[in-house]
Amino acid sequence: MSNKVTKAVFPVAGLGTRFLPATKSVPKEIMTLVDRPLIQYAIDEARAAGIEEFIFVTSRGKSALEDYFDRAPELEANLKAKNKTDLMKVLDSTNMDSGAIAYVRQNQALGLGHAVWCARRLLGNEPFAVLLPDDVIQADKPCLQQMVEAYQETGGNMVAAMEVPQDRVSSYGVLDLKEDMGNIVSVKGMVEKPKLEDAPSNLAVIGRYILSPKVLQNIDNMETGAGGELQLTDAIAKEITDSDNVYGYRFKGERYDCGSKSGFLQATVAFGLARPDLRDDLEHYLEDVMAARKAAQ
Ligand code: G1P
Repeated sequence: MSNKVTKAVFPVAGLGTRFLPATKSVPKEIMTLVDRPLIQYAIDEARAAGIEEFIFVTSRGKSALEDYFDRAPELEANLKAKNKTDLMKVLDSTNMDSGAIAYVRQNQALGLGHAVWCARRLLGNEPFAVLLPDDVIQADKPCLQQMVEAYQETGGNMVAAMEVPQDRVSSYGVLDLKEDMGNIVSVKGMVEKPKLEDAPSNLAVIGRYILSPKVLQNIDNMETGAGGELQLTDAIAKEITDSDNVYGYRFKGERYDCGSKSGFLQATVAFGLARPDLRDDLEHYLEDVMAARKAAQ
């Protein structure tokens, strides 16, 4: 099997209840970091890694996502008439070629493993990537691209990994390390959301995966796991037993958990500070706010 990864799955079926009331009518993935929706960050990262086919696992109420990646003829004509070439370029990065993007519905919220499994017919028999748009990673070289490069050496299955504070392990999939080779670790076990005392390490899975199609077959016969859901972590863990080819990849970059309000706010500041057109204003504002808070203490 070739190690070329050209397809990616974006599970976007979640209700986004943590962001209510905003998510009552706006899909969480359309919420903006600075001026781009969350999903655009994931798409750009996938493109940079050589992904050509984008598969969205959606649910009811997500049609704004489909429109976002379609052309907007009226808007484009309007910008053209006004000669706004800069804005036309900005819009261009949101357009997807016909056939490059596909949507499948997950009609019941049965877990991340189930969401990825819903895309099985579109994935076929080749390795594929999974990106969770809630995990936004700021990096010089986009995270998935780092992983695709490392994967050329390892093959098998690879998950992004990051050390998290010990008291946070229960929010993640956690790796049991076999051999630590620095950026790449080989894995002898994986547990989804372990109790603190059962966690094999504090090396957590972050939402970027490169997976063999066997993982999809594993989900076929799998029982529900943590939280009563079909867990992707469990389907990958089965590959450790069957093929001993699961790796963690310690990526270089800063990860923001945009599934939480505090993570989303931090990401907004970080991405704002990274923008040459916004940096100075924002920096001054933050300095002033902090100085005023200190003075008031
Ligand atoms: C999912 C995965 C978990 C992973 C996490 C990373 O959990 O199931 O293994 O560590 O994403 O963000 P969720 O955050 O969707 O509960």
